[in-house]
Amino acid sequence: MSGPARKAAVTGYPVAQSRSPLVHGYWLKKHGLEGEYGKIEVSPETAEDFFANFSASGLVGANVTVPHKEVAAAACDQLDDAATTMGAANTLWLDEAGRLCGANTDGIGFLGNLDQLAPGWDALPGTAVVLGAGGAARAIVWALLSRKFTKVHIVNRTFKKAKKIADEFGSRTIAHNWDKLRTLLGETDLLVNTTSLGMTGKSPLEIDLSALPQETLVTDIVYVPLETDLLKQAGERGNQTVDGLGMLLHQAVPGFEKWFGVRPEVDDELRALILKDLGVEP
Ligand code: ATR
Repeated sequence: MSGPARKAAVTGYPVAQSRSPLVHGYWLKKHGLEGEYGKIEVSPETAEDFFANFSASGLVGANVTVPHKEVAAAACDQLDDAATTMGAANTLWLDEAGRLCGANTDGIGFLGNLDQLAPGWDALPGTAVVLGAGGAARAIVWALLSRKFTKVHIVNRTFKKAKKIADEFGSRTIAHNWDKLRTLLGETDLLVNTTSLGMTGKSPLEIDLSALPQETLVTDIVYVPLETDLLKQAGERGNQTVDGLGMLLHQAVPGFEKWFGVRPEVDDELRALILKDLGVEP
């Protein structure tokens, strides 16, 4: 691409902790592109104006992180399917007519990670158990329903949050209390932890996997530590496991492609770079 360097950034409040500049910086360098990717802290008081006047920012697009995903979606002229469903956008770009477009790529990131590290994981219509009912769970339920999953069980400490998601997504989703977990595990093809349990500094995820079939794929969105207790326990009993780092990296792919015109790959070097920055043992 010619002309001035295309600029994108992660926007949020706070943004200091974001690894997005490292991810996009790696891809810009790898592909020899002129673009730039920075961090812009947008305070809650100014967020509505910022996204409403996005074209004045000088950016070709942006990532949006907490707490602005909803405000950003509301400012968009056009949203993709996932962002429409979730009412939240994490990826923005200006189209040729200067209209602000938004996508929610968290679910796509989840799928991209499993497609890369467990090819064929969704080949048969299956059943999934999703632990947790926060924003990440919603994106993952959306993602699973976009594939062939016939049943998605949402298990959460606070039942009404699981019920809200299940009601929203229709008859293929069912909400449960935590005490149903053991029974559900006996019949699931996929187990996903979307809670913060098991993350360094948080409570452990205490779960009895003895009923889980050997063929069940187990994945966690927690990536600090990279091998959570859940993944360790599942791996030791012979289940295939996929760690959560790839979701973070794959959700960045569509934005980079929109802004800089090249579809980047999530490779081992990128994984190693982010793990080093996080101070996490590979
Ligand atoms: P995110 O939007 O990133 O998914 P979140 O909305 O804070 O984060 O959701 C965190 C999830 O972890 C929730 O499902 C939460 O359960 P509740 O809805 O009952 O709060 C779950 N979670 C966090 N700490 C937990 C704990 N100690 N025991 C069980 N579940 C927990």
